[in-house]
Amino acid sequence: MRDRDAPPEEAQPDDDPDQSGAWWRETAATPRRRPVTDGGTDTEGVTLDPWGSATVGDYENLFAEFGIEDFREVLDEVPDPHYLMRRRVIFGHRNYGPVARALANDEPAAALSGFMPTGDPHIGHKLVFDELIWHQRQGADAYGLIADLEAHAARGLSWAEIDEHARDYLLSLIALGFDAEEGELYRQSTNDRLQDLAFELGGHARFAEFESIYGFDGETSVSHMQSVVTQMADILYPQLDEPKPTVIPVGPDQDPHVRLARDLAARMRYFKVTEAFASFEADAAERALLREAYDARETWADEPERPRCEGAAAWLADRPVGADDDAIAETRAGARDRVVEKLENAGMEPLRPRVRFLDRNANDEAFEALIEAVDGEKRVFDAHVDAFEMDAAEAEALAREVEIDAGGYGFVAPSSLYHRFMTGLTGGKMSSSVPASHISLLDDPEDGYDKVKAATTGGRTTAEEQREKGGKPDECPVYELYAYLLSQDDDEFAQRVYDECAGGERLCGGCKEQAAELMREFLEDHQEKREEAEEVLAELDVDLDVAGSRRGVAPAEE
Ligand code: TRP
Ligand code: SF4
Repeated sequence: MRDRDAPPEEAQPDDDPDQSGAWWRETAATPRRRPVTDGGTDTEGVTLDPWGSATVGDYENLFAEFGIEDFREVLDEVPDPHYLMRRRVIFGHRNYGPVARALANDEPAAALSGFMPTGDPHIGHKLVFDELIWHQRQGADAYGLIADLEAHAARGLSWAEIDEHARDYLLSLIALGFDAEEGELYRQSTNDRLQDLAFELGGHARFAEFESIYGFDGETSVSHMQSVVTQMADILYPQLDEPKPTVIPVGPDQDPHVRLARDLAARMRYFKVTEAFASFEADAAERALLREAYDARETWADEPERPRCEGAAAWLADRPVGADDDAIAETRAGARDRVVEKLENAGMEPLRPRVRFLDRNANDEAFEALIEAVDGEKRVFDAHVDAFEMDAAEAEALAREVEIDAGGYGFVAPSSLYHRFMTGLTGGKMSSSVPASHISLLDDPEDGYDKVKAATTGGRTTAEEQREKGGKPDECPVYELYAYLLSQDDDEFAQRVYDECAGGERLCGGCKEQAAELMREFLEDHQEKREEAEEVLAELDVDLDVAGSRRGVAPAEE
């Protein structure tokens, strides 16, 4: 990695003294708020709606409110991170660690994302194309899919329109470097294995959760619901042959889908593996207390090599649960009281760490097979097995193996990556339906040039003021073009543009001219590669004429 650890930039002559250096230079230790540049405003707040308008008012809120994790925390584990990762365009994730580690250790991993063919692919989609391609080059199995069922059901596009756009997405993905022979490209409507998986998953999804997650109601079409189940199948599809860490790079608006898919993946499992200390069940907070009591056994047990539950109960009952926050103290006290009662009821039973296999969906045969497969000391109960000579990781692997042998999927919960949305060139949000707000990958290179030249900037009213105070790259859609696309892998260049702007050495006219020329070159080059990609696409087993064999009336948009 070249630049990430460079010394902090000197303060720039700006009226906000806190805005020195590009936002992507922040370190996890010194987080700093960055003004929103995706056209969202604070009053809009946070919405995560897969079919709503894609803006996120404040990315930081997503961490606290939805449990999306900060990408900076896993960045160090990523081998040779992509510039979108280094520049914090990719800002969040769910459980990306296992994927990063699999890539680093040359173990199996997969990356999948999907595109609704509702318009031209544009420079916002390019972020996701690049993420897929990067994962593929790092050794992951890569999948790109056309969400044509969703486009038809949720957006009401006709099959002829969908065919045309599907083709354009695939051409751009290939042109940008996706290896279609190594990876897999498919469309939802013609993939039987996918449909079969969707049907299975649908058996475990409930309308009530669609209501609460997506706000579906009595007016929602059944096909729209089917497209959700299909997306769940997309997300788990890379694991059909073999369970593996899988990442889904998407915008944060897709997070509700990711959460549901993670949930369904867990719900389909035959066994759940947990740690336990005695015959009774305990939740995570209770388990933490049991662990504490067990680790302190020397201090309270009459026979430390054979500590008893009742002794642990007496010790825990006297433990203070003080916390600065009353609510936290109360929760802890609740967990303590519950676990003390359980320990008292267990009485003379020994307190002993073990891993527990809970039967979730296993049939008798699979349960028997599991009992058989557990080595060493074990205890078998009605709906669980305790193993005393195995650690949690071994137990996980064993549970998965038995499940797969018995005909289950053994899914690993999928991970995700979230990128920032690009600001529209005209300010506000980038929207496929407002041509001037975005640059399509199919735009004539001259039009691309013109759109950049006409873009809104973060510049001052006069050149004089700009020289004196510096521009505002953090609020400038043109700077975003540099950071997200035009600088490509060159961090030093992206940083220089930033510093020159903030320092007042760069004026908007020249800056836009440079960006516009780079954009024109990019589009020329990309479109040449798209032509070459035609041949590749023709060789692939993707049906690009679905309209020819389908009938129907596109449902009205909801
Ligand atoms: N719903 C996504 C969108 O609106 C498209 C999509 C379908 C998708 N299946 C997917 C995205 C699987 C990621 C993974 O753009
Ligand atoms: Fe934006 Fe460039 Fe103007 Fe700075 S100089 S505000 S980056 S257009």
